[in-house]
Amino acid sequence: MAIGVFDSGIGGLTVHRKLVDRLPQADLIYLADQANTPYGGKDGEAIVDLTRAGCERLFSAGCDLVVLACNTASAIALRRLQQTWLPDCRRTLGRPVNILGLIVPTIEAATGMPWEHEAERRGDKVEKLDILAVFSTPATARSRVYEIEIDKRRQDVAVFVEPCPNLATLIETGAGAVELATEVERHVKSVSARIGRPPDRAILGCTHYEMVADMFRAALPPGTPLIHQPQATADALVDYLAKHPQYDVGSSGHRQFLTTGRPGAQHMLAETFWGGPLSFGQA
Ligand code: DGL
Repeated sequence: MAIGVFDSGIGGLTVHRKLVDRLPQADLIYLADQANTPYGGKDGEAIVDLTRAGCERLFSAGCDLVVLACNTASAIALRRLQQTWLPDCRRTLGRPVNILGLIVPTIEAATGMPWEHEAERRGDKVEKLDILAVFSTPATARSRVYEIEIDKRRQDVAVFVEPCPNLATLIETGAGAVELATEVERHVKSVSARIGRPPDRAILGCTHYEMVADMFRAALPPGTPLIHQPQATADALVDYLAKHPQYDVGSSGHRQFLTTGRPGAQHMLAETFWGGPLSFGQA
């Protein structure tokens, strides 16, 4: 049995890396849906169907838990699949399985509040607004999940979401550093112009962007805190497993990488980021 880690491409490796650090003995199967990447420009139904297919593949490979290491899939498909598909899926498989996303831990990290917390609406004047920029795919931006969920918990945080339609594809296809940095700067400037000044903090709300976190750091004012989704997700999974011992996540530290695309096309940036060669098999 194992933990499945799913993304449209290589971005979820950023989460996988932190899962390995926190759960070195767990068996992990990474699935990159590179035949269908990018998800960020697709409509909701397509994202739900592709995410379900990815989870099905990982459950049939023996995963008890699937972590959606993809904001787009988490924002658009997670609740639908948990409510409408998982109950039947558990009956068919005859074992406990679940799908977890990364938006809940990210919002907990960004608000400093547990998910259960709801802000009291007292109508007090907020003395100082904390301006949080979220860089995401267009589909995640359209879902408005970050604005809605942060607003429920913190009245003193204002969220500005900046959709970056090309960035995940540039990263996925191995664009050069200059092209990537120019695209990152353009979006940082664009959101800063909408705010009227640079943001106080930022969420890299697409797992691909974590691979170019240094470029975001360089484009934002020095010291702007970035909320680290991969770390928050790995920490949340450790807590979840402690509370849910029914899920068997393996104990041999075995790691397998699968792609629906062409094995071998996982380029330098992913390997540099990963810290070694990555060998993907055909899903
Ligand atoms: N890495 C994904 C995310 O976190 C999706 C990128 C894409 O396929 O557009 O949203």
